[in-house]
Amino acid sequence: MKALVIGSGGREHAIVEALSRSPQVDKIYCAPGNAGIARLAECVNIGVTDIEALADFAESEGIDMTVVGPEAALAAGVVNLFNERGLKIFGPTKEAARIESSKEYAKQVMDRYGVPTAGYRSFDNYEEAKAYVEAGRIPIVIKYDGLAAGKGVVVAMSLEEADAALKDMLLDSAFGKGRVVIEDFLEGPEFSFMCVVSGDKVYPLELAQDHKRAYDGDKGPNTGGMGAYSPVPFIGDDVKTRALKEIMEPVAKGLVSEGNSFTGILYGGLILTDEGPKVIEFNARFGDPETEVVLPRLKSDIYALFDAALKGEDFTTEWDKDAVLGVVLASKGYPGSYQKGAEIKGLDKVESGLYHMGTALKDGKLQTAGGRVLMVTGKGATLEEARKEAMESLDKIDCNALFHRTDIGKAAIKLS
Ligand code: AMP
Ligand code: GLY
Repeated sequence: MKALVIGSGGREHAIVEALSRSPQVDKIYCAPGNAGIARLAECVNIGVTDIEALADFAESEGIDMTVVGPEAALAAGVVNLFNERGLKIFGPTKEAARIESSKEYAKQVMDRYGVPTAGYRSFDNYEEAKAYVEAGRIPIVIKYDGLAAGKGVVVAMSLEEADAALKDMLLDSAFGKGRVVIEDFLEGPEFSFMCVVSGDKVYPLELAQDHKRAYDGDKGPNTGGMGAYSPVPFIGDDVKTRALKEIMEPVAKGLVSEGNSFTGILYGGLILTDEGPKVIEFNARFGDPETEVVLPRLKSDIYALFDAALKGEDFTTEWDKDAVLGVVLASKGYPGSYQKGAEIKGLDKVESGLYHMGTALKDGKLQTAGGRVLMVTGKGATLEEARKEAMESLDKIDCNALFHRTDIGKAAIKLS
């Protein structure tokens, strides 16, 4: 089989790696890919939203299955176009992907199907939003209603902070013209629950925990994610089952009833409150960096899993008991502005578990080319062992333009 993966980050690197373990897959292409992915797949220079060119490529190369990484490709309608042209693709249509691209739509779906989440109101008018915040409780959560690469969320600890966020999003259109969703603040440990979904069929993957804040101790601004690990010791099987029955399955069924049947990865960003698991957000794709710690634990053939989902057939996944923990190396300044083009050395000394998130090869030298640049993971019988291996790999990498968190998984390691 020939597979095409769309995207260029660590998530796509991990998907490509999982596909490369499939006995059915002979050849993998990645569009556009990156310097790390190029070791496992043939990189094709087509952008993720250039959907006509992607479909032309899939057709002319005789690709058997395409797998979509990023939300931008979904929002551009890559799945709709491939479906129209009779090309096999794993991912939701643009309409079904609104569960991620529109926070208000996600909230409406949750309301309609009784899925537990934070109370909310949505606004496009600054004065009205401000009055609502002033009448409510602090902390309060303000979310830009659209795609903002994980950066459109402000957990405001004061009225001033809330007001600044509203001004940014509604008056200065920092992420584009749009609405905001204002949510009640929920408390508890967060975890990521990714499921393969095919209509009303849900095939759960193993859980992971992401670390969204930029700096140690969960300080600093929200990012796309600075590190992750799997499994998650403080989320028991009972909670996972509740999350499956009360959240993931009702949403999948709900989307079918809405006429927006979902095929692809439904990612639940969940929080374990005193009242049980609740939804913080949904994504319509694999999480990044969660994928880099979950897929290495998948023992089943991922091509067969995607194929079963596309056919609506049953599939039981098997998992490695070993833990995986990974740390993101990001460009100094991220998630704000940062420079690109710094040379990265020492990667040849890292034997395994290295995922490229934003790198480029220039004149034969590896350079930084994004906000999040590399994900270094370790694997072991326990999270502690996995962390040790990740840290050893991290020490071998030499680049003074990068920073990382030093506390990924530490709270979980103390617990387990
Ligand atoms: P999101 O992009 O919606 O996942 O939000 C980013 C981060 O903001 C989450 O991982 C949480 O840490 C935090 N957050 C979002 N919504 C809430 C909420 N309602 N209560 C508490 N924290 C939240
Ligand atoms: N790591 C969170 C996300 O992929 O949205």
